[in-house]
Amino acid sequence: MTTCPTKTVLIDKHSAISAMKLMVDKYSIQFPTHKPCENPTSVHHDTLVITGTTGSLGAALLAELMVAPNVAHIYAINRKSQKPLLERQMEAFQRMGLANAVIQPSTNVTFIEANMQEENLGLEPEILHKIRKSATHIIHNAWPVNFNLSLQFFDQNVRSLRNLIDLALSSHHASPPRLIFISSVGVLRHACPSLPVKEGPVDPEIAVGSGYSESKWVAEKLLDEAASRSALRPLVVRVGQLSGSRSGAWKETEWFPSLIQSSVYLKCFPAVDKEISWLPTEDAARALVETKNTDVRYLHLAHPHPVNWSTIANPIATELDLPLVPYTEWLSLLTKSRKGLESKIEQEVVKVNSALKLLDFFTQISLAPESREMAMPRLDLSQARSNSPALNEVKPLSADIALKWISYWRHSGFLPLDSAVLS
Ligand SMILES: NC(=O)c1ccc[n+]([C@@H]2O[C@H](COP(=O)([O-])OP(=O)(O)OC[C@H]3O[C@@H](n4cnc5c(N)ncnc54)[C@H](OP(=O)(O)O)[C@@H]3O)[C@@H](O)[C@H]2O)c1
Repeated sequence: MTTCPTKTVLIDKHSAISAMKLMVDKYSIQFPTHKPCENPTSVHHDTLVITGTTGSLGAALLAELMVAPNVAHIYAINRKSQKPLLERQMEAFQRMGLANAVIQPSTNVTFIEANMQEENLGLEPEILHKIRKSATHIIHNAWPVNFNLSLQFFDQNVRSLRNLIDLALSSHHASPPRLIFISSVGVLRHACPSLPVKEGPVDPEIAVGSGYSESKWVAEKLLDEAASRSALRPLVVRVGQLSGSRSGAWKETEWFPSLIQSSVYLKCFPAVDKEISWLPTEDAARALVETKNTDVRYLHLAHPHPVNWSTIANPIATELDLPLVPYTEWLSLLTKSRKGLESKIEQEVVKVNSALKLLDFFTQISLAPESREMAMPRLDLSQARSNSPALNEVKPLSADIALKWISYWRHSGFLPLDSAVLS
């Protein structure tokens, strides 16, 4: 695939691409040979290892797997924190409004705090043995979702992925567990917008430009290398924009919630003639669970029935009592809102005008007519759609869900309860 010829050439593009390739090389050294045990038992049930279940998609995935047919056991691996993991997990379920996800003593989940950067994830030998003996799938979902970090910051996450590759290859089964990597549409940031991007590998030129997208490309490429040099069977799932949970819960640190908060601050809401194909988190989780046994190597997950931006923008603008203005005008007001601020004051302003933190992201959104989607390329979903019946049945986004987001952010304190408060 080639980059779109109309894209601006980044000055440091070549050194960024070299850094991406170097990171792939660094973690591609000597993949272990998979040696099944002499009499591998036949597998009748799925046993899954999943990382990052305290996050939005991870919590929804865990909730889906807990009730999925044929799942014997789940190992939920998360990093350490001051609060006990079980407490954090219940908070995540509650925050997401996942009322059916209840953890009881009989629940088929083992919660594990681990340091994934350590060899064997630093797991106790007994747990490690159980995983090697039973795991049929590893879903690697944990990743920092932060567009402001450099590629070097993500080195530790790529190291964790390598450790998971090694764990998969140490399986006692006849073939190693499927390693499902949750990638991002961000990898396709420079894909030509006029054509839907196929579900397959891309060149580094497509992903370069942000540490987050570069790191996801490095991870995809590392898995390709492992697949060509070992028995590993990876599946890369490029997730498009998720639109929070069906209850309306949507993490405030993401770009769209930031756009909403800044719109209240700037007293106007951006209008664009673009489509959105955002997928509710639970629908993405269900599609992922349905596709976990597919033979394909790459999948794209996005809403199969896009709607126009106005479907959500109009009810939100009305609810927040904001006039709609062209996107360029909104962006110019956002840019001006930073000017002349001293750094101490800027930190205060950013708390109520959080899109400022993502100014580069908002500046780079393409308004060219050939970019049909808002802040995302068009995705070919053929492989995902033919493997997930649930994906084909997802309801289109509507004013209803948009108003649930607003209600959630008002209750969380991210938006003022009354939009008149800031006027
Ligand atoms: N949200 C989207 O629209 C979107 C779109 C495309 C792809 N994705 C991908 O989907 C996955 C989940 O995203 P999300 O929206 O659910 O994000 P999230 O709510 O921020 O959750 C991220 C999860 O990863 C864990 N994590 C973050 N940094 C980590 C680190 N350095 N070491 C170990 N664990 C770490 C978090 O643990 P703590 O709870 O301890 O912080 C949390 O469990 C990510 O791989 C992301 O790239 C998301």
